Amino acid sequence: MCGIVGYLGDKQAYPILLRGLKRLEYRGYDSAGIAVLNGDGIEIFKKQGKVVQMETLISDESPKAKLGIGHTRWATHGVPNDVNSHPHYSQSKRIAIIHNGIIENYTSIKEGLLKRGYTFHSDTDTEVLVNLIEDVLINEKVDLAEAVRIALNQVVGAYAIAVIEEGNYDQIVVAKKGSPLVIGLGENEYYIASDATPFIEYTKQVVYLDEEEVAVLSLKNGLEIRTIANQLKTAYVQELALELESIEKGGYDHFMLKEINEQPKSIYDTLRGRLLVDKGTISIGSFVEYEQKFLNADRIIIVACGTSWHAGLVAEYLIEDLARIPVEVEYASEFRYRNPIITERDIVIAVSQSGETADTLSAIQLAKSKGATIFGICNVVGSSIAREAHVGTYTHAGPEIGVASTKAFTAQVTVFTLIALGLARKKGTISEQLFRKLIVELDSMPDKVAQTLKVDAQSKYIASIYKDVPNCLFLGRGINFPVALEGALKLKEISYIHAEGYPAAEMKHGPIALIDEDMPTVVVAIKTEQYEKVVSNIQEIKAREGKIIAIVNEGDSVVSKIADHVIEIPEVDERLSPLLTTIPLQLISYHIAVMRGCHVDQPRNLAKSVTVE
Ligand code: M6R
Repeated sequence: MCGIVGYLGDKQAYPILLRGLKRLEYRGYDSAGIAVLNGDGIEIFKKQGKVVQMETLISDESPKAKLGIGHTRWATHGVPNDVNSHPHYSQSKRIAIIHNGIIENYTSIKEGLLKRGYTFHSDTDTEVLVNLIEDVLINEKVDLAEAVRIALNQVVGAYAIAVIEEGNYDQIVVAKKGSPLVIGLGENEYYIASDATPFIEYTKQVVYLDEEEVAVLSLKNGLEIRTIANQLKTAYVQELALELESIEKGGYDHFMLKEINEQPKSIYDTLRGRLLVDKGTISIGSFVEYEQKFLNADRIIIVACGTSWHAGLVAEYLIEDLARIPVEVEYASEFRYRNPIITERDIVIAVSQSGETADTLSAIQLAKSKGATIFGICNVVGSSIAREAHVGTYTHAGPEIGVASTKAFTAQVTVFTLIALGLARKKGTISEQLFRKLIVELDSMPDKVAQTLKVDAQSKYIASIYKDVPNCLFLGRGINFPVALEGALKLKEISYIHAEGYPAAEMKHGPIALIDEDMPTVVVAIKTEQYEKVVSNIQEIKAREGKIIAIVNEGDSVVSKIADHVIEIPEVDERLSPLLTTIPLQLISYHIAVMRGCHVDQPRNLAKSVTVE
């Protein structure tokens, strides 16, 4: 959480930082701030609220400076207010810092600093860190970079920081552990940011800092990277494949709507080069080397959070059904703390859109230490989870900026479908006929998703009827049970309506008590072996005057007679159906949130990538 950005070069820093912060706002939007360094020293502008509110602090002319840092906050320590906003000055105002992460031992460090006469204005762990750096700077008589390095040796926790110093017009010191930080290398200029979106139009040459590395950016002396243990490192420069259009709204009102509509393309891009229908093969490049491990695995453990966890649940159905390998799906946050049994014959798959989720990252670090093979499925190239995994694959969904995950989910499900089919074929657990049928159908999914997106107007109409309900139930069976969970998560996170997902048959074990004429239930009722049973569940709800919104296959003549509303989607094999059934649920949630006046792309209290535990 939190976005950080920095600039050092020939251009005016303030407009670059401001635009960069707006692009990073998806990471946190409780407050925003910028510090620039010029002849007057370090000037800080910061304010509670979004970046546009901070902009109101700048009167007519924006501050002139060629070096600066900026921050958009998702509050951890200290409520969101002006004082707790970043950047933070050190006691003497000689240095300023921005920070994404949590300093876990800040209380003990603070106690030491208080004894040495430091005073604190904010409730943040970050102000403690900047004063610790200043303390080292003064007492050890070292330069800023060395002070940062020494101070970080005393720190327990996570950080991506950028530090600037009064009078030091040619230096930004950055460091990273557990939170992302990327350095952009321009012509006689440097950028730093939590991801590359703030500087994508200026340079595509980037260096990702590794864990516990400190980098000094200087136009005169170049880029120097050391570990906090003082080992000199060589910068590994990479070329980014990210285009500016992919991070803009492109005519849509919200990123979420754009991303929902991008799904035919993101699924296509995720399949491209991997699903070779003509040859009748599936090939995931990175998989080859580890294929035997997968085939011999005792079990696969999938760790993830939120929507990615739901994709993991879909994978459990797919992999067990097709490849007959036992699968366990774990909340990463629970897995890491319950002393799980992990062996060298386990494969742990970490699923994460951002590749930065702290709980998922820690879960794979634990599994790695126990000898398991780690496979990462990430969307963000070069992200921490992608780099921590032994092997992995990307989802190719393109940047997902709306906080509510949509296209990343369907891309993750697509990758899992490829993995399940690929493994099944190698293991001989699928007939050639079924394999062929499924790959042909999988190949047609981008078109079927495009067709399904036509339910937008109908979804909007349904949204207009139910936009004011306080509660909503989502039901699904089998592989569509995770879709029900995902539908409920989408609705609650962007519209703040209480929603719960259940396996349809579980309804009679408790949730049915909630049903009355004010309680709508969204049911995935497509043609499967369980169809009749789902129809019975719908009847049970109708008998209690509950309202039914049913997702059915085209031409359904049974549910359409009982349900209050039906949304028809194309018929596909049940195993592939989550790629379609999820679409109307995304659209209904989106329209309800818009109609309720909610901030769809930046829902309250949330952030896109959760880099704190
Ligand atoms: O980046 P990740 O996939 O690891 O993120 C996991 C969750 O934080 C994320 O899916 C979250 O639940 C979304 N807001 C759901 O829309």
